[in-house]
Amino acid sequence: MPIAIDFASADPTTVSGDVLAVLVPEGPLEKHKVVQALDQALGGALLAHAKTAEFSGKAEQLLDLPVLGRLPVKRLILAGLGAKRDVHDARIAAVVATVARASASAASLVLVAPERAAGASMRAVGEGLVLGAYRFTRYLTGDRRPKTSLAKVTVVPPSGRGTAAERKALALGAEIGEAVGVARDAVNEPPNVVNPEALAEIARGLAKQHGFKLTVLDKKGIEKAGMKLHYAVGQGSAHEPRFIHLAYVPKRANAKLAFVGKGLTFDSGGLCIKPAPGMGEMKGDMAGAAAVLGLMAAIGAARPNVEVHGIVGAAENMPDGAAYRPGDIFGSLDGKTVEIVNTDAEGRLVLADALTYAARLEPDAIIDAATLTGACVIALGKTCSAYYTADGELVKRMDRAALAAGEQFWRMPLLEELREQLKSDVADLKHTADRWGGSISAALFLREFVGKVPWVHCDVAGPTLADKAKGIYPKGGTGHPVLTFLRLVESYG
Ligand code: BES
Ligand code: MN
Ligand code: ZN
Repeated sequence: MPIAIDFASADPTTVSGDVLAVLVPEGPLEKHKVVQALDQALGGALLAHAKTAEFSGKAEQLLDLPVLGRLPVKRLILAGLGAKRDVHDARIAAVVATVARASASAASLVLVAPERAAGASMRAVGEGLVLGAYRFTRYLTGDRRPKTSLAKVTVVPPSGRGTAAERKALALGAEIGEAVGVARDAVNEPPNVVNPEALAEIARGLAKQHGFKLTVLDKKGIEKAGMKLHYAVGQGSAHEPRFIHLAYVPKRANAKLAFVGKGLTFDSGGLCIKPAPGMGEMKGDMAGAAAVLGLMAAIGAARPNVEVHGIVGAAENMPDGAAYRPGDIFGSLDGKTVEIVNTDAEGRLVLADALTYAARLEPDAIIDAATLTGACVIALGKTCSAYYTADGELVKRMDRAALAAGEQFWRMPLLEELREQLKSDVADLKHTADRWGGSISAALFLREFVGKVPWVHCDVAGPTLADKAKGIYPKGGTGHPVLTFLRLVESYG
């Protein structure tokens, strides 16, 4: 159930609800007007407690206290925004999300928005509320099932009643938050539920809801189209592969972008099977695809003046009598032949054909997202994605988009000297290189299939599945990099 979010111009000391939250910048608390009023209502207990708890208002710091019947709410939360000069939209979204997560088991929340959230920045409040309140509870029963969830949020806007523009921005933010939830849900669902056909079904739902054009190819269709690499990866699974293409084509478009997602609904490694520890995490090997679907949901809400194509290569990588093997040679949609080295490097194969397909749409840029290599996680850790591009303008756009979205990306180099390792004695290309620089050589392999179209490859293996909640991200599926991609699209609008 979506949260009911509305504005109210209220005196924070008289408003009722389960939780009252006030966002405060770093600095002397006693000068904050709302804090002053609340402290007075609590007979000085608020400032005294803040002092004991060493609450300074640094970013995402929470002071959570019961009000013992002295205010018409049950709990009071002060949430730190950090230094005033650093309070931008991404920070607001992260702090609001932290508050919403702390209130997730309360039924109602009253949020006193900071000055900085006025105008268009109210979108960040809407995003933060929905992103923070997210929980994946579908498979919890009995006592494990949460009895309450955040159903009603009242936002007290910085100036009076809130403008029509602020109302719109708040609602759009909430819709974008729900769109990120599409990606999170797909990652959190188990691999026996989210198989390639299930990804196609999500796309069908989005096409219907937003009026997108949709093409879905099944196993036969993939074969007919000549996507030989995608077909090869899927041939060992009882759950047949799907190729998915959603298109948002507005009347007026300033640019045309194609997003491509790796959709391995489970990656066992195939015949080069992975070790058992951690194999279950490979349910998240479709996070790139999930992000593309989440992006399309967000595009459906934001409706920018940009043509956006969402392309997903979906398959399951399994060992089987029909599975592809090391030593096999396959053609590709592009025509190049590829010698298979390690069946666990399946993602780049599925992406190769999807990138060729995307290039044929002649977009202004192709952006792919893939949980492509463990090497990338070794390089940048669990909280930062790598991106690769040779295009200077796309570097600027990516850096700006990621910063505005509050998601971490770091540019990595397409080192030419590693290209040599992709040479095969028996085919045009080998599909893996040696261990060192494994994320880079994977990117170099993909580059063979994008032709001359400006291209960004995002290796999102780290941040798409989180060990713990932080800022806008919950534990589990995070929805990374939907918000960055949305900002990137909007930079063309
Ligand atoms: N899906 C994995 C990469 C991955 C690893 C994602 C850890 C998220 C967390 C990918 O298909 C894979 O297995 N890559 C291999 C490539 C190697 C065989 C060249 C890897 O990274 O080990
Ligand atoms: Mn693999
Ligand atoms: Zn994989």
